[in-house]
Amino acid sequence: MQKIIIDTDPGQDDAVAILLALAAPEIKVLGITAVAGNVPLALTEKNARIICELAGRPDIKVFAGAARPMKRELVTAEYVHGKTGLNGPELWEPKMPLQPQHAVDFIIETLRSTDDVILCVLGPLTNIAMALTKAPDIAVRIKQIVLMGGGCFEGGNTTPAAEFNIYVDPHAAKIVFAAGIDLVVMPLDVTHKALATRPRVAAFAGMGTKVGRFTAEMLDFFERFDMAKYGSEGGPLHDPNVIAYLLAPEIYTGRDVNIEIETASELTMGMTVVDWWGVTGRTPNARYIRDLDSDAFFDLLVRRFKSLP
Ligand code: BDR
Ligand code: CA
Repeated sequence: MQKIIIDTDPGQDDAVAILLALAAPEIKVLGITAVAGNVPLALTEKNARIICELAGRPDIKVFAGAARPMKRELVTAEYVHGKTGLNGPELWEPKMPLQPQHAVDFIIETLRSTDDVILCVLGPLTNIAMALTKAPDIAVRIKQIVLMGGGCFEGGNTTPAAEFNIYVDPHAAKIVFAAGIDLVVMPLDVTHKALATRPRVAAFAGMGTKVGRFTAEMLDFFERFDMAKYGSEGGPLHDPNVIAYLLAPEIYTGRDVNIEIETASELTMGMTVVDWWGVTGRTPNARYIRDLDSDAFFDLLVRRFKSLP
């Protein structure tokens, strides 16, 4: 059993990642912590609760965290995800409560009291960096952080140099990458190979379940923007790769490398400077995933989603 906290800014692809985790009997979701990112915090925490209810799991604890990045103004991505963050399917007002505790305190308390917790990070790294700053003792308690963020060979998706999650809070990313934690990075170089093509979206629609329909409707919306932007056959399904990595690491390949985060230059703000060829001699601080078996990834998603309502 892998014990995880999902830190997230849903986001259609975040939603698919949460659903995959809730579908997996070998994963125990200790809590979901929301952060501002794709849309403001009031929407990301609400969307996280909607997804738990959709999966028939109103028992999952959802916490609200940082409403803005550590130093910079919040940048959101309604132009990709729609005004709600989950545009596509019909949404509802969730009935399950938001937990009163702040997400950062939940992360600290859980790590101090529970061994072997993995942090699955699907949004800007603000909550995680704030937890590490407030309670530096938790760094050694974290079993691993698997995060979606950054890019190298693909370039950026938000600026020519930067990927969205790192761009939104580069100072937080810098803290996390320098904390000496076992880090696995799912960058655009791999998520841009996980394309939700028409037949793959149709497989969700064809499941005949509530979750299958909801997922297909989310992906239909989410794809439009990315297909037009990249001219690809489908939009990249970023965040579910973080959870899929826990379930099927054998479908991913990568390398241990040094990654530094740019926080000085406005032109390249939030760039992940990946020393893929080991030219700097700097010590590796992350496992950088570069490739996946995309058919195996979508097979895994569809197979696991069949257990959801
Ligand atoms: C990342 O940014 C968000 O738009 C997605 O949810 C994903 O986490 C991709 O750059
Ligand atoms: Ca996200």
